[in-house]
Amino acid sequence: MHKVIYDTDPGVDDAMALLFLHRHPEIDLIGITTVFGNASVETTTRNALFLKREWEIPAPVAKGASVTIDAARAEREWPAMVHGDNGLGNIEVPHTIDLPLDPRPAHRFIIDTVRANPGEVRLVAVGRMTNLAMALKEDPQIAGLVKDVVVMGGNFYVPGNVSPVAEANIHGDPEAADIVMTAPWKVVVIGLDVTSITTMSRSYLGAMAARGDAAVKLLDGLSQHYIDFYSHAVEDGMMVHDSCAAVYVVAPALFTTITGAVRVVCGGIADGQTVIKPDGRRFPPGDWDGLPSQIVATGIESQRVIDLIRDTMLRA
Ligand code: BDR
Ligand code: CA
Repeated sequence: MHKVIYDTDPGVDDAMALLFLHRHPEIDLIGITTVFGNASVETTTRNALFLKREWEIPAPVAKGASVTIDAARAEREWPAMVHGDNGLGNIEVPHTIDLPLDPRPAHRFIIDTVRANPGEVRLVAVGRMTNLAMALKEDPQIAGLVKDVVVMGGNFYVPGNVSPVAEANIHGDPEAADIVMTAPWKVVVIGLDVTSITTMSRSYLGAMAARGDAAVKLLDGLSQHYIDFYSHAVEDGMMVHDSCAAVYVVAPALFTTITGAVRVVCGGIADGQTVIKPDGRRFPPGDWDGLPSQIVATGIESQRVIDLIRDTMLRA
C-alpha cells in the first residue's frame, strides 16, 4: 500500500484527484492538508471537509498556510473564473461543515506523520508548496524520511498558464517551490508538459457519472463550471492536472521522465518559471550545481491515465 498525504487546494481538479486517491485500492490516504491557492485557505479547508463528509473519507484534514512563505509577496486574487467563487464550481456547499479539523497546522501534521512512518510516506502536493516548505524549514531531517514527493506544478518545454513561462501552483509561491525542488529528497514533477494534454471530455465524465454512485455524480456536477472555463483551450472538456500526479503514485510506467536539478525563478519577468538542468548536460558553473537530481515528466499516455481515473472512480 502507498501511504499518501495529499496536500491540496480544492479546487475542482483537486477534488477529482482526492476521489481517485480515496478509491484506489493500492493507496492508503492517511492525511489531507490544505493550502491557499484556488481559493483562500478557509475556503479550501471547508471544501476538503465537505468532500471528506460527502465521500466518507476517513483521513484527517489539517489546515495549512494562508499566505506565501515569503511574507513580502503581495496577496493575489483567487481564480474564481477557473474554480468558481467557492472553489468547487459554484455548486451549493454549506458555509461550515460540522467535522473536526486535526488540531495541528498542516506542516506540523506532515512532520509528525512522516516521523511516525519513516521511509513510507508519499507526499502528493497539488497546490502551492508552502506547507511542504514550512515543514522542511521546521524539521529539515524529514527530507531523509519521506519516500517521495509527487508535485503537480511547473512547465519545462511548454508555455505556462498564468504567465508565458509560469504555472499557477509554482507562480503562487515560487520561493516555497524552490525550497521543495532543491531539498535532498526525491521529487517527481508532474507539470503542464503532461497535464495540459491530459483532458477528460464533458461527455466522458457524464457517462462516468451515469454509471457511478453519488460521489461520481457530485464530481460531475462540481466540474461543469471548470469545463466551461476550459473551453478556450479544450474542446468541451477539462485538463485533469492534479489527477495526473495522483495517478503517478500507482502507475509511473504511464509517464516518460528526465532527471536533473530543478530550480524556480523567484522574481522578475520570469517569476515562477521552472528550470531543469538535465543530467549529463555540461554548462559553466551555475545555481544548479550540487543540487539533487529530481524527476520531471515529459511524456504521458493520456488516454490510459484517463481510463485509469474512470475505472478507479467506478470502484465504489
Ligand atoms: C494547477 O492550478 C490549479 O488551478 C489546479 O488545481 C492545478 O493544481 C494547474 O496549473
Ligand atoms: Ca490544485
